[in-house]
Amino acid sequence: MGSRFDEHERAQWSGRAIAYRDSLAALCAGPASALLDAAGLPPAVAGSGAAALSAGVAGSGSGAAGLSPGAAGVGSGAAVLDVGTGTGTVAELAVARGASVVAVDAEPSMVALARRRVPGLDARVAVLPDLPFADASFDAAVANFVLNHVGDPLAALREIRRVVRPGGRLAVTVWPHPPPVAQGLWHEIFAAAGAVRPPDLPRLEAADDFPRTVDGLCGLLRLSGLADVHGAEVAWTHDTDAEAWWNGPAAGIGATGAVLSAQDGPTRQRVRAHFDRLTAPFARGGRLALPTRAVLAHGRVTSPSPA
Ligand SMILES: C[S@@+](CC[C@H](N)C(=O)[O-])C[C@H]1O[C@@H](n2cnc3c(N)ncnc32)[C@H](O)[C@@H]1O
Repeated sequence: MGSRFDEHERAQWSGRAIAYRDSLAALCAGPASALLDAAGLPPAVAGSGAAALSAGVAGSGSGAAGLSPGAAGVGSGAAVLDVGTGTGTVAELAVARGASVVAVDAEPSMVALARRRVPGLDARVAVLPDLPFADASFDAAVANFVLNHVGDPLAALREIRRVVRPGGRLAVTVWPHPPPVAQGLWHEIFAAAGAVRPPDLPRLEAADDFPRTVDGLCGLLRLSGLADVHGAEVAWTHDTDAEAWWNGPAAGIGATGAVLSAQDGPTRQRVRAHFDRLTAPFARGGRLALPTRAVLAHGRVTSPSPA
C-alpha cells in the first residue's frame, strides 16, 4: 500500500501524459544523454556520448561525474531498464544507443504514449517500490526525475538495484534544492500573486527524505548498497515556448501544478500576470531561455541484493 504521498502522485499523473509530453517532457529531456553516459551505455555516434556528459556538467561534490569512454560501461546491446519512463524520452535514446530496453511507469497513459513513441518498446505499468522483474535481470537501470516522485526514495532505489546484475550500473537524476533559476521563478511568481501552497498537499516524511544535492543523492545511492558512486550537477538552458512553460503547471503537473490547481480564479489570473512579468527578462527571439540544473548520480552494483 502506498503512502499518502504516493497516492497523491498517482492522482497527479493520472491521464496527464499528453499534457506532460507537450509541456515539461522537454525540460526533463535536458540531462537524458548524460544519464545514459553515466549508466555506461556506449554513445550512439562515436564520441558524442562523452561530449554530451562533459558539456553539461557544472561541478561535482563527489569526484569524477562520468565514466571514461568504455571504462566499466555495460556495452552495446545491454539490457536496460528505464524506470518512470514517462513518454519514453530516455528509452528512445537508449534504443538509439543499441540497448535492449524495458520501460516502466506507474501511469498507464504514459506507458501508452511511450509505446507509441518507440515502436516495439517493451513498456509496462509498474509502481515503485515494486518492480515485476527477477533479481539481476538488467545490465543497467536509469530513472530520470523519478526518485523525486516517490514516497520512499531509498526503498525505490533498493528495488531498482535489486533488478540490476552485479557489475551493472544505475544512474538517476533529481531536481536540486535550492531550485535552479527556471523552477525558482515559479516560487517568485506564486509569492508575488499571493498563491499559497495548500496545507494538505502531502510532503515526504522527514525520515524518508534526502538532501537534493550531489552529496545528498550520492549518499542515498551508497545507502542503497551501490559502489563507485559519483555525482555532479548538469546545467543547461531550457529553450521553451512561454505557453509550454505555463501549460505544464496549468494542467496540474508536478508540485507547481498542484499549487496552481488549488488557487481560485482571481488568484490564477494574478499568477498569469506575474508569470508574464517575471519570465519577460528571459525572452529570446519569441521564446524563453531558462537556466536550469539537475543533480545526476550513478553507481555500480557489486553484489546481489540481500534476500
Ligand atoms: C517527471 S516525470 C519523468 C518522466 C521521464 N523519466 C522523462 O524523463 O521524461 C516522472 C514520471 O515518474 C512516474 N512515476 C511517479 N511515481 C512513480 C512510481 N512510484 N513508480 C513508477 N513511476 C512513477 C510518473 O508517472 C511520471 O511518468
